[in-house]
Amino acid sequence: MKPIKVGLLGIGTVGAGTFNVLQRNQEDIRRRAGRGIEITMVAARNTERAARLTGGNCQIVDDPFQVVDSPDVDIVVELIGGYELPRELVLRAIANGKHVVTANKALLALHGNELFAAAQEKGVMVAFEAAVAGGVPIIKALREGLTANRIESVAGIINGTTNFILSEMRDKGLDFDVVLKQAQELGYAEADPTFDIEGVDAAHKLTIMSAIAFGIPVQFDKAHVEGISALQALDIRYAEQLGYRIKLLGITRRATVDGVEGIELRVHPTLIPAARLIANVEGAMNAVLVEADAVGSTLYYGKGAGAEPTASSVIADLVDVTRLATVDPYCRVPHLAFQPNEMTDVAILPMADITTSYFLRVRVSDQLGVMADLTRVLADAAISIDAVLQKETRGDEHTDIIMITHETREKQVDAAIARIEALASVVGKVIRIRLETLS
Ligand code: HSE
Repeated sequence: MKPIKVGLLGIGTVGAGTFNVLQRNQEDIRRRAGRGIEITMVAARNTERAARLTGGNCQIVDDPFQVVDSPDVDIVVELIGGYELPRELVLRAIANGKHVVTANKALLALHGNELFAAAQEKGVMVAFEAAVAGGVPIIKALREGLTANRIESVAGIINGTTNFILSEMRDKGLDFDVVLKQAQELGYAEADPTFDIEGVDAAHKLTIMSAIAFGIPVQFDKAHVEGISALQALDIRYAEQLGYRIKLLGITRRATVDGVEGIELRVHPTLIPAARLIANVEGAMNAVLVEADAVGSTLYYGKGAGAEPTASSVIADLVDVTRLATVDPYCRVPHLAFQPNEMTDVAILPMADITTSYFLRVRVSDQLGVMADLTRVLADAAISIDAVLQKETRGDEHTDIIMITHETREKQVDAAIARIEALASVVGKVIRIRLETLS
């Protein structure tokens, strides 16, 4: 059979990795896919660089629309990033009857519903393993490997940049700003790191996993997104003294609130017991923990970024599309795991309705009755305390009191924090970091 023809939109880090891995492993890939997979066309802003990288083996153009319109391309691989241009390109590729492989989590988190509907209508596939956790095959696992299960929760370290920063802050006791600068110098963090450090990248990935896990549409606009830029080295130390690590976790899970089923969808710094495997995922690595009724806990770990790890997922999708291109669209694996007419509209819960435990740090004047005041506020709000740590004063008459609560509803904690901040003996804002036991 003739090789299937692929058009690349963009040949940056991941595009070049895809080209190289496809070339290096072409024989094994052909034996697995049943036919060869050949990059025939590349769209790049820097056409000279693209020609150099591809060694003159394919047509290079500077207009990406030429690729999506080319009769010489069967599968379009979108690796340019951003929202609007890739949306237009992917829709046009679909309209032209081409399958699409993308690593673009932002695109899918915002426009996934529209793109999947268009692809379904046209009978083509939009594959996106590389969009979540880079080289870790978590989409395949959630969508196919766990298909027998009712999935209860997904919790992941799905942003390598922030995990690297948090690991360095803990290891070296350094402040966020110092480590961010180092990460930029080492090339781990982008020149504009906003999407990574503010949790947006993780929320894009979590939104996609949530849709697949629970059979709901992608709903990025309903995600709670909180990054690590306000996190202090001090809190990482206190957490450690209490037996916890702080990670930027994306969490999505089923929850029942006042008898109504909902889905939690949130990204924020999270205390995790140090003994958990996922708490020991360090540096730029990713890991996703899935809880499901039949299999129990499964953990997926690996590189969440980089040329060849991400290329590994892009090529896995190319092989899937190559194998399935001739299969009746209704017999293929659905884009979001559940058949399109079997999606549910179970609501994403507002943060006020989530239930979890909390680390609260309160800066107080070291005077008689302060601890009693704090515990009274928590008791009045029906919040039970699990652990307390009080640090000695640091020569300024002030001290930190750290409390870990048992599980409670977020709205009760909001109310208690407001009352604590109004106490005369309390200085400044209460630091609140959510805690997941993941047990
Ligand atoms: N910037 C991401 C990370 C990789 O740091 O994990 C691409 O999503």
